Amino acid sequence: MFESDASTVAQQANTGALPPASEVSALVREAHSRYASHSEGKVADYIPILARAQAEHFGISLIEATGATYSVGDWQQSFSIQSISKAFVFALVCDAIGHEAVHRRIGVNNTGLPFNSVIAVELNRGSPMNPMVNAGAIATTALIPGDSPSAQWDYIHNGLSRFAGRELRVDELVYESEISTNQRNRSIAELLDSYERLPVDPLDAVDVYTRQCALAVTSQDLAMMGATLADGGVHPISGERIVSAEVARDTLTVLASCGLYERSGEWLFEIGLPAKSGVSGGIVAIAPGKGAIGAYSPPLDPAGNSVRGQRACAYLSRALGLNLFASNAQQQAR
Ligand code: DON
Repeated sequence: MFESDASTVAQQANTGALPPASEVSALVREAHSRYASHSEGKVADYIPILARAQAEHFGISLIEATGATYSVGDWQQSFSIQSISKAFVFALVCDAIGHEAVHRRIGVNNTGLPFNSVIAVELNRGSPMNPMVNAGAIATTALIPGDSPSAQWDYIHNGLSRFAGRELRVDELVYESEISTNQRNRSIAELLDSYERLPVDPLDAVDVYTRQCALAVTSQDLAMMGATLADGGVHPISGERIVSAEVARDTLTVLASCGLYERSGEWLFEIGLPAKSGVSGGIVAIAPGKGAIGAYSPPLDPAGNSVRGQRACAYLSRALGLNLFASNAQQQAR
């Protein structure tokens, strides 16, 4: 889907720095006007309340590791964070239990299958494979410190709010809509439990996971949360350390290979940045050391990724020289 678009934007080399503020600001506005009228994609409806989202909503924010902030369009529109929470809960668990334990207990390889696949768990004899699909995310939430579901929830609520730099609130309507229709996630959790992969009651893990997915954010919150990972785990505005630099690195590594599910390879090929999407239409793409893009637009591609959000990130990655793999030669070629 990016090919035709991407070829019309010159790929700038990744120089390790962003262009001056006036240029960044103009390019963020251009990314919005370029794709605002695109109508491709379908709003999610398997969680009934998500079907009420307005397809035309489109907000983009970019926050630099210095804290410089650029936002356009519907950037104040709030929506449920959904799967994007998986990235930040994973970071909290990495911080709590360490690199080796998450590798062993969750895994870091792409399943190559849809985010809510049951068969992936069976094919891998109970291994959730990675923390970005539902099975791995439920298993990750189950590892959050706390001796009760409510203690685990407080840990997550506090941790994700610290990433955002403000107290996030749960959209109770979204929580209710998902908890009453999430037979599939409950089945995934029971299946994980049958392989003795969950240290807590499976339905408690699903409940806390569903609540984390219902946290309401804006595109600017996503950019801020992502910019904290881009800034070695330190919040760009408050200067507070949220996670260690090693945890920020490990989280971005998993996002690079698994953040867009079975489309992660294509995403990396075209955009060259770690990223995470959610079914309500949010997406965050992170440029390590530089900053992050947060976008919101509800229509999704068949894998569950925001169409306008992906296009905007593709445009900004090329125009701002964010692609991690795009270098210029240091010497004159012979
Ligand atoms: O568990 C679910 O299905 C949702 N709460 C989250 C899924 C999601 O956001 C997938 N993203 N593309």
